Amino acid sequence: MINMKKIAAEKACEYVENGMIVGLGTGSTAYYATCRLGELVQQGMGLTGVATSKDTEKLAMEMGIPMKSLDEVKQIDLTIDGADEVDDGLNGIKGGGGALLREKLVASFSRQTSWIIDESKLVAEIGQFPLPVEVVPFGHLQTATMLEKLTGEPADLRLRGDGEPFVTDNQHFIYDLSIGRIQEPKRLHAALVELPGVVETGLFIDMADRVIVGRADGTVDVISRQDLSYNRRK
Ligand code: A5P
Repeated sequence: MINMKKIAAEKACEYVENGMIVGLGTGSTAYYATCRLGELVQQGMGLTGVATSKDTEKLAMEMGIPMKSLDEVKQIDLTIDGADEVDDGLNGIKGGGGALLREKLVASFSRQTSWIIDESKLVAEIGQFPLPVEVVPFGHLQTATMLEKLTGEPADLRLRGDGEPFVTDNQHFIYDLSIGRIQEPKRLHAALVELPGVVETGLFIDMADRVIVGRADGTVDVISRQDLSYNRRK
């Protein structure tokens, strides 16, 4: 069976050039990109990685990729990360793995961002995937009430397998919002981050320059933002 995540990840690594500072994403798709970049380093390519999570940092170090923190670099040349859902305007939902805050910071300081997904994640409108919202633990039940009031839908505290709250790398909690179709992601994001206690949302708007889609037939499509604006002008 074709591993759609792996073929997308390996295609994304073709855009990496010697000497680049590369943002390393988090999740089961980004895993393959970090492994491939590790192979490239072992073959002599000069790269520096900036991780979007502690898990990715650990993997990258095991793969022998020289690492720096976000504060130690001026800019990141290219970030390769996964996504949970992507629409045809290349807006997406991220944070299924809980790394949304660091992922958004790293992407914001990247000259280019590539998302790697399997074809099931391409959707007409985002929102079927529950939207992760990172919140501070202090008063989180009150924050959850505000989230529910704002969206009119339940906000579910993300739990670990043992029933305790999932805690992010930045010591926050996550609420997953089952909103359904999100027609105005920019507006929703702005309203959510205005609520006290909300740190970040999993809405990533206008952030991906390129989405690389692994398909079940073994092909890989590259959709770039440039092509979108070209098509829209036509
Ligand atoms: C991590 O917090 C997420 O944003 C992931 O990038 C996203 O959930 C995609 O993960 P998978 O590649 O594991 O589906």
